[in-house]
Order: sequence, then structure tokens, then C-alpha cells
Amino acid sequence: MKKLLIRKSSPLKGIIEVSGSKNSALPIMAASLLLNDKCLLKNIPNLADVNSMINLLESLGAKINKKKSYITINCSNLKNHKAEYNLVKKMRASILVLGPLLSRNQNAIVSLPGGCAIGTRPINYHLYGLKKLGAKISIKDGYVIAKAPNGLRGNTIELPRVSVGATENLLLASILAKGKTVIKNAAKEPEVQDLCNFLNMMGANIKGIGKKNIIIKGVKKLKSVKYSIIPDRIEAGTFIVGALITKGKLRINNIIIEHLQTPLKVLKKMGAKIKIQKNYIIVDGKNSKLVSSKIKTKPYPGFPTDLQAQFMCLFSLIKGKSYIEESVFENRFMHVSELNRLGAKIFVKNQNCKIEGVEKLIGAQIMASDLRASVSLVLAGLVANGETQIDRIYHLDRGYEKIENKLNPCGANIKRID
Ligand code: UD1
Repeated sequence: MKKLLIRKSSPLKGIIEVSGSKNSALPIMAASLLLNDKCLLKNIPNLADVNSMINLLESLGAKINKKKSYITINCSNLKNHKAEYNLVKKMRASILVLGPLLSRNQNAIVSLPGGCAIGTRPINYHLYGLKKLGAKISIKDGYVIAKAPNGLRGNTIELPRVSVGATENLLLASILAKGKTVIKNAAKEPEVQDLCNFLNMMGANIKGIGKKNIIIKGVKKLKSVKYSIIPDRIEAGTFIVGALITKGKLRINNIIIEHLQTPLKVLKKMGAKIKIQKNYIIVDGKNSKLVSSKIKTKPYPGFPTDLQAQFMCLFSLIKGKSYIEESVFENRFMHVSELNRLGAKIFVKNQNCKIEGVEKLIGAQIMASDLRASVSLVLAGLVANGETQIDRIYHLDRGYEKIENKLNPCGANIKRID
């Protein structure tokens, strides 16, 4: 298994490019199952999760051509409607093929994705919504078996809680359904908006994008398009923290500023010197005198849970007490014990954390537990005295495009070892 060996880095300096969004790429790739033709997707990040989605779509009969910065997907000849466990288990987002497969084939069998380190993560809202659209659903031998012999029919679905994945699955199921679907209490995340924009470009009729209620009028057919995925706001946020924590100066390119409005507001209030331009920002960590803070993760436009671990690492090195409340996932503090091994002072009680700032962290051997947790450990490794070794970095590779290739040219000292 690969590990990362990180030595204390000099302040990060230079220019960094943000890749395409993983959480946009995955549902958009799943959406190609609705199209009886070829589509071309640009700005696709080169990640383990994207490869998992490629393998899954190919197992269903898609023809995929992957180049450096774009892929073409042709789903005109699907041969299979079963998503096998060995492919689904690698990535929870695989469940997003359920809606489009069912819509296209009137039949879909998709393995249950199971739990993961950050919580039980059930799919009950996905299934509740699909039933409202007329699907008959049963669970057998760890698989969801969904049938809609007369096709899906539009309906009003009120989600009990905001869910990104359920909103996306139901959008995908309703595009070609007969009549009107209203998804109430829908997720407003930029990645959900990106999926809607892609679908509308293909000829779907979606209104209320980025609003609480999304309205979909079923259409008969979609058409082939070229589409460019939005930049990854979480990767961008991670680099912002990187510049601040190392007291460096980074220009971070390829950003949609609006997508980062809440984290940027928090950082400005803390005293971060950040110059915002049209599609890039310059973070001046050296001249930022940061004070402690308090955040609560919430669905968009609230503070993203996917940046919680990175901010916790930053808070660990700021004088005074900072507080984090995690309200999206029930078990997303796995990084706490590892950060504490490096000398951080973080105390967890249920969904809340108190972080007492320390003067320095000290390198040690630590373990990545999930995707975002692992990048917070990389950030910690950049500033910890001595050497930090991070095991189980396959979690990191699921969501970050060879992070050392982006950070090392800016002054980091990260090595990948066996
Ligand atoms: C997506 C993102 C993930 C991000 C999360 C929240 C992708 C591939 N992943 O995950 O990076 O952290 O949104 O922004 O886009 N829930 C249920 N039942 C359901 C569905 C969800 O109880 O049927 C719960 C979850 O356990 C969680 C909460 O609702 O506590 C929100 O989860 P959800 O928004 O669905 O997250 P994902 O789509 O899995």
C-alpha cells in the first residue's frame, strides 16, 4: 500500500490550478446513461473515483474514450442493467446509476453501497422518491431491485432532509418520466446545479435550479452535447487553507468565487488576507493575522462538510479556542485522533468539537480514514516539525489529483512511498 511521507514545508508560494469537480463529474457521468448517443465531458478530474465510475458505466455497456482532459461516453448500446457489488463497493456515488438505469430500462438492479467511515449513509430518501415516481422496489441479497414496467410518472416528492445524492438520483429518474415532477427541499449545491445545467443543455426541462423546489417537466428524448464540468470548490478551499496554514502566498486559479462564499466569509472574519478576482484568488498567509473562529457545517449555501476537516487543521494552529459543529454527517471526526497524535488539542463531544490552538505540531505516523480527513492530515504534515507519514492514502487519491504534483512545485516536500 502506498503512503505519503511529508517533511515540514516552506511557506507555499506560486500558482495552483484547481481541477474539475469530482462531485459534479460523477453524477454527470451517470446522467449519460439517459442519452441514446455520445456526449463529451471536459474538465474531468483524473481521480480514482472517476475511474470507478468509468468501470461501472462500461460494465453496463457504455463505450468510453478517456483522454487527458476530456472523456466521451456513448450509451447508445446498453447491454446490462445490473450494477455489481464489486464495482459499487468502491464508491458510494455508484448509487447514482439507479435513477437513470431505471428510467431508461424500466428495470435496474444496483448493489446497496453499504456504510462508510463518516456515517451509515442510508439511501432511504433515494428509494422513497423513486417509489413516488412509480417504481416498485425490493431489496434482495444486498441489491436494490427496481422495476417500472409502465415507465416512471412525475409526482411531488418532499425530501425529509436535504440530500445531494437523493436530489441527483431523483432528477435523473424524472427527466424522461411522463409529466411533471417537483422535488421539494432539494439540495442547492453547485454540483446539483451543474448536473441540472448539463441535463438542460441536453434538452431536459428543469426549472428552479439552485432553489428549494426543483420542477422537472418530462421530455421524450435528449440530445448529444459537449459540456465542461465546474471547478472543484473543495479542492480550491483546501489550497486556501494550505496557503494560510504555511503562511505562504498562493494564487489559486480556476475558481467560481460564489461557490466558496461561506468559507471565504469565515476566513475574512478571521483576518485572512485574500484578494478576490473574477476567477482566481490570491491568498496571503504571511500577512494574515488569524484569530479563532466557530463554524457549523450545513447544506449549501452553508459551510460545506467537505471542508470541515481542513478548517479543523487550520484552527489547531490558531491561538485561542475554536469550535466546530458537524450537522451533516453523524461520524465525521475521524481525523481528530490523528491530528491529536501530531500534538493538536481537539476535544469531541457528540457532533461538536472544541479546538485549543497549539504553537506547533510534531510529525508522526498517522492513518487516513476518509477522503477529506486524509487531506487535513496532509495539511498538518506540511507544518508539523520533522516527518509525517500518512498510511492508507487511497482515500486521498479518490478525490485529489496527485496532490504532491500540485503542492511540491509550490514548496511542499511530499513523497509517495511503498
Ligand atoms: C454528497 C457528496 C459528499 C458531501 C455530501 C454532503 C458526492 C459524490 N458526495 O454525498 O462529498 O459530503 O454530499 O454535502 O456528491 N441521508 C439519509 N438518507 C438518504 C440520503 C442521505 O439519511 O437517502 C443522510 C446522510 O446520511 C447524511 C445527510 O443525509 O447524513 C446528507 O447526505 P447527502 O447529502 O445525501 O450526501 P451524499 O450525496 O452521500
